[in-house]
Amino acid sequence: MSLSYQHIYHAGNPADIQKQLWVLAVMSYLQKKDKPLFWCDTHAGRGLYDLNSSEAQKTQEFNIGIAKLYHETIDHPLWHRLKSMIDSVNPSDESEIYPGSAMIAAMLLRPDDRMECYDLHPQEYKHLAASMRPFPNVTTRDISMEEGIFSCTPPKEKRGAVIIDPSYELKKEYQSIPKVVKRVMRKWPNATYMIWYPLLKAGRHEELKQTCLGIDPDVLIDEWIFADHTKDGFRGMYGTGMAVFNAPYSVPETMADLKESILPLLK
Ligand SMILES: C[S@@+](CC[C@H](N)C(=O)[O-])C[C@H]1O[C@@H](n2cnc3c(N)ncnc32)[C@H](O)[C@@H]1O
Repeated sequence: MSLSYQHIYHAGNPADIQKQLWVLAVMSYLQKKDKPLFWCDTHAGRGLYDLNSSEAQKTQEFNIGIAKLYHETIDHPLWHRLKSMIDSVNPSDESEIYPGSAMIAAMLLRPDDRMECYDLHPQEYKHLAASMRPFPNVTTRDISMEEGIFSCTPPKEKRGAVIIDPSYELKKEYQSIPKVVKRVMRKWPNATYMIWYPLLKAGRHEELKQTCLGIDPDVLIDEWIFADHTKDGFRGMYGTGMAVFNAPYSVPETMADLKESILPLLK
């Protein structure tokens, strides 16, 4: 399969904001216990994204995401934490370098925590491996989600989470990804599994949600709708979704609070 998707065209958009807050909320909850955890990022992308690059400048999706929030006062401890992590990878007081899901998780790991992350695209993998080099407890592999997730589970740490952030270049992924999760859950039942999905006019995310609900009626569905797709000529993504299996206690409430503060600023 040849992959063409490159996340640098989309870095810092509203989906990245929702996704990274989920990473932070779940990891922070799991780290309340003084026991090591295992984190798996199945579609890790580059790790770091240069928002001044020609690719990011071409679409400027960060202008409907992080750029709308960066100078706002958002009074929530997890937002402050995300902002300080963004600041820590930026030389100036603007958000020109943007950390992806793998970078956020890597920066949060404690010395005994571990992470594995994968990307199948050779160019994206090269960037990923370079950006993860400073983190001794992160393993990067240029393999597929399926190969990675089945080889790393169940981890010795027993506690942890998996973030799955596909590009949905293959439409069958709206059904096949939840089915992979169903199989992995048999090997590692108590992990938290987060599946990100886009809300597009084509409506394929409904297939994903139905498949998830068929696996577990208690799956948590978190959707942030930031654009009006009924407007004439509207194209692209109008919302961002996360289906979460085994969401840790109190994290759904934390995310609901964050959504209430942040989503109005993205509209
Ligand atoms: C939406 S991007 C990930 C962005 C990343 N999570 C972040 O926050 O920076 C999806 C990535 O998955 C990779 N990919 C696509 N199919 C894959 C597969 N079957 N296994 C692993 N990686 C895959 C693509 O190369 C792409 O970099």
